[in-house]
Amino acid sequence: MAAALLKTIDRAVKSSFSIRTSVFPPARFGRSVARCLSTTPAKASVQTTTPMPEADGFPGVHTHQDLYDFSLREPDTFWGTLAKSRIQWIKSFDRVSDCDMSAGKIEWFLGGQLNVSVNTLDRHVQKMPDKVALIWERDEPGTEVRITYRELLAMTCQLANTLRSHGVKKGDRVCIYMPNSPIAVAAMQACARIGAPHSVVFAGFSADALASRIQDANCETVITTDQAVRGGKVIELKKTVDDAVANCPMVKRVLVAQRTGKEVPMKHNLDFSLEEDMCRQSTECTPEIMDSEDPLFMLYTSGSTGKPKGILHTQAGYLLYATMTSKFAFDIREDDIFSCVADIGWITGHSYVVYGPLSNGATTVLFESIPTYPNPGRYWEMVERLKINQFYLAPTAVRLLLKFDESWVKKYDRSTLRKLGCVGEPLNVEAGDWYSQVVGEGRCDLVDTWWQTETGGIMITPRPSQPGAEILHGPMRPFFGIEPVLFNDEPGPDQGKELTGKDVSGALCVRKPWPGIARTIFGDHERYLDTYFRPYPGTYFSGDGAHRDHKGYYHITGRMDDVINISGHRIGTAEIEDAMDEHHDVAETAVIGTPHEVKGEVPYAFVILKEGVRRDEEDIAKELKDLVRKTIAAYAVPDTILITPGLPKTRSGKIMRRILRKISTDKEEELGDVSTLAEPSVVDAIVQSHKAYK
Ligand code: WT7
Repeated sequence: MAAALLKTIDRAVKSSFSIRTSVFPPARFGRSVARCLSTTPAKASVQTTTPMPEADGFPGVHTHQDLYDFSLREPDTFWGTLAKSRIQWIKSFDRVSDCDMSAGKIEWFLGGQLNVSVNTLDRHVQKMPDKVALIWERDEPGTEVRITYRELLAMTCQLANTLRSHGVKKGDRVCIYMPNSPIAVAAMQACARIGAPHSVVFAGFSADALASRIQDANCETVITTDQAVRGGKVIELKKTVDDAVANCPMVKRVLVAQRTGKEVPMKHNLDFSLEEDMCRQSTECTPEIMDSEDPLFMLYTSGSTGKPKGILHTQAGYLLYATMTSKFAFDIREDDIFSCVADIGWITGHSYVVYGPLSNGATTVLFESIPTYPNPGRYWEMVERLKINQFYLAPTAVRLLLKFDESWVKKYDRSTLRKLGCVGEPLNVEAGDWYSQVVGEGRCDLVDTWWQTETGGIMITPRPSQPGAEILHGPMRPFFGIEPVLFNDEPGPDQGKELTGKDVSGALCVRKPWPGIARTIFGDHERYLDTYFRPYPGTYFSGDGAHRDHKGYYHITGRMDDVINISGHRIGTAEIEDAMDEHHDVAETAVIGTPHEVKGEVPYAFVILKEGVRRDEEDIAKELKDLVRKTIAAYAVPDTILITPGLPKTRSGKIMRRILRKISTDKEEELGDVSTLAEPSVVDAIVQSHKAYK
């Protein structure tokens, strides 16, 4: 029965596609600034940075610094010029911006009308229909699938028509719970085409987490797949959706695509086969006309308190910002293969797997697997096989991989690589060195990018200002149009005052509005104002701390809530970690602040040793204390150093310090739900080590 159905779908899909039949084989959907900005970075290569041609018209702009200054002095001219040349408008905008940071009111490109999917797909299909848009790097190495712009547009239109046929209309929120795959990208694009904001939920979240996001956004439609495959393991996605939807009465339809083809229970009048529906639809679909400020998508992210926030981004501003930052932070050129190994369930996947690269007409890699499958050479074998030019990951992956022998990297040809990017957490010096020296052979630019779900795109990142400029670790320089400001957050008479000049640390805020900033928290605009605009009036507050060094470069010190205070001395836990990570036996560390009677807080360190290290733990702990004392100061030396087999991480690789704080204070009964962790069992192991240590 199933086989017969699949055959029918196969036939139907083949005939419905006016293009190559490999577009969308249904049984396994798997088979579908002026010259002045040209600079040569330090130490490295002879690379030049792609010029921004529009800048030729800006008066008095000769250098990178000139253009940056111009972008702050005349933001409307700067962004307006870019918006005209980089976006295809249905109707051009009348006014560039109408923003009031004190009131948290942000509007860009007013009066403009566009469709984002037309910008990311149709625009390129007209000029280069057969250019590869997506390389789907499936879980099994060597089974990648290439999808052209024409094919992706056809899939998108069929999916958009399917949504419309089910009654989904402009403004309706659609939940997408899918692994990285062409059909998931088509689902996002289809939502954009019909003006239905998507809410992609990372397909590693539990049923409860998914349900609360469906409920908060009041989604009537969920798009998912039968199963997912990651690191050789099968994950029962549809089953999770069933469990979630059981608690979501608002859900009217679940559209199920096939990843493995496994038969999954389908409820009458609720569950629909996406392929079956799609093959009845035309490969053309009239795009909805969207206003610049209509919602494009929402994405849930955790705050330091309360339930996850539905961060909402709008059409034109987000698109322009994702487009410009991908092009200029990573220097994407015509025939480049761009690879950001993030999941589409996170903002990095939205901006730098999907919207940014596609808007630039690039070829973007969709990575379905994990860095250690089938072995720790996976990334570099993939770089060789796909001839990747830019590689963008989270530092946690670097720290994971540097535990293994360098031969896992060196046996593959990485000569195509030009830019090595990272995002999400501080890049400790050891990981940065390994990434740039071992992976990049010292000839690639290291692009540490600081930004957030809320900022829509990269905010601070190195862009060398002149040939031979020194490249440091850290995000360093604000992107065009971005004006970081630091505020004193130390209790006392100067709290809340702006910190001007060099060599200062404080709360990292942004003064000028930029097109990519989130416009609200879905359903809770007050929380948006409270979190981002009220703490330091007139600016956007990031929640992060930063240091502006003697050269004016920015270094992120970590979330403000991860800054600890020891005997009145403030220190970022990241700094202590950085010091200890330098130890040759250490793979990864996490430091939290734990209460102390006299000192207020003391650092507590959780340390993972490199594979194969069999030395006396007490010796290592002593060496680490010495190292911290030597690198920072005596007050920063951790009271406790606990050698543990792992750290509690979210599936996106973030260390859950909340859990470590509870363990360190013997409150394991208050740990709450640890099921969303990448490896929930690690928690028990740490609790045991902690108890044994005491
Ligand atoms: C938080 C945002 C933006 C995509 C991934 C995470 C931390 C981000 C860096 C960096 C140090 C960084 C910050 C920020 N962060 N990039 N280059 N160096 N910290 O998005 O989940 O919204 O998290 O990640 O603390 O506030 P997110």
